[in-house]
Amino acid sequence: MDRERLAEEALTPGAFGYFAGGAGDEQVLRENVTAWSEHRLAPKVLVDVSEIDTSVTLLGRQHRLPFLIAPMAYQRHADRLGELATARGAAGAGVGMVVLTQTTTHPREIAAALGEAPRWFQLYAMRDPAVTEALTQGAVDQGYEAIVLTVDFPVGGLRQRDIDSGFAVTEPTYVDMIAGGGRPLPPAERHAQHDPSLTWEHVSIIAEHCGLPLLLKGILRPDDAQRAVDCGAAGIIVSNHGGRQLDAVQPTAHALAPVVDAVGGRVPVLVDGGIRRGSDIAVALVLGADAVLIGRPVLWGLATRSERGVAEVLREFATEFENTLALAGCPQAAALDRSFLVSGAQTVAGRRVEDVDSVRIDREPDDVTGRHAGPAFDAGDDEFG
Ligand code: FNR
Repeated sequence: MDRERLAEEALTPGAFGYFAGGAGDEQVLRENVTAWSEHRLAPKVLVDVSEIDTSVTLLGRQHRLPFLIAPMAYQRHADRLGELATARGAAGAGVGMVVLTQTTTHPREIAAALGEAPRWFQLYAMRDPAVTEALTQGAVDQGYEAIVLTVDFPVGGLRQRDIDSGFAVTEPTYVDMIAGGGRPLPPAERHAQHDPSLTWEHVSIIAEHCGLPLLLKGILRPDDAQRAVDCGAAGIIVSNHGGRQLDAVQPTAHALAPVVDAVGGRVPVLVDGGIRRGSDIAVALVLGADAVLIGRPVLWGLATRSERGVAEVLREFATEFENTLALAGCPQAAALDRSFLVSGAQTVAGRRVEDVDSVRIDREPDDVTGRHAGPAFDAGDDEFG
């Protein structure tokens, strides 16, 4: 079922463009999706896969599945119940949710709807530190388990679809309430409230004082990942904001492994962007991610069938992921490592998979066996130099 097309039919052009669109020419929006399939799995056969364990442990808590719902703004523009329906769908599927600063449902209501499901709170640092402080304290008071500070949004990306449609937000957001007034702001005006002067010094302070584990979302460079850990981050989320910020960046499937290597297992690394299949989740874990965030597919489920649509999308991911584990000969999600990756695939990331064989003969066979190891996954000067 092509849920995205159905969602396009169900939504106003402005809302669909806001949810589907990206920045610039939407190059990385498209590449985020295709880059996962440049990595190919090397399945092991004759492994007992009669019992499959899809669980992973993140920040000391066991998650039934290695994914959470990504923070995505203005969900009442996709469905009348918005984030409430998303939370109910997540709770039904036993999947965690990242609730956001720009939620159109109060985080307290979302937390109640999530039941036992994991919940993290996504934070934007605002120009007014009192607003940032209130958002952070609210997350603590409402029982959120972690803060996800989004760091790839000092200013808003330029999204042509929104410029053309003039998409107008009519639903007030949580941050509008906190900041006073409660008047819904258009995305550009809302984005202008973000603090563009945020630096690593602020991150250290937030990490020390926020009272919850702090993850940084929007990291693409290994040196930034290292610095995040040094500043007290409890986790890294490799993300380019679903192609909505800077278009001229790498797809996350390429950025992931160098970041994993730089972090060296000190904190969990998650990734999002273009994850559309359960097998994409498996590839992300093979490359070293501890879990992933699912983005737009959840919005398409929400826009077409509300709570049931969200639950269906999450169940499809779960079914495909479990099936991938069985067929890859790896009965435990937590045991996926680079030994399941076709040798050489990452080295030629960005080129076609058919070209891999010419590279493979030059490589040491051990290069891809360690989960966090291997010069084959070095960022290399050409990417970050
Ligand atoms: C987002 N994303 C996002 N991220 C964030 O940290 N704060 C936010 O307010 C939003 N808002 C938002 C709105 C919409 C409509 C989308 C689609 C995305 C980014 C999101 O968390 C995630 O990084 C991407 O959605 C992942 O890409 P895919 O898989 O959706 O293509």
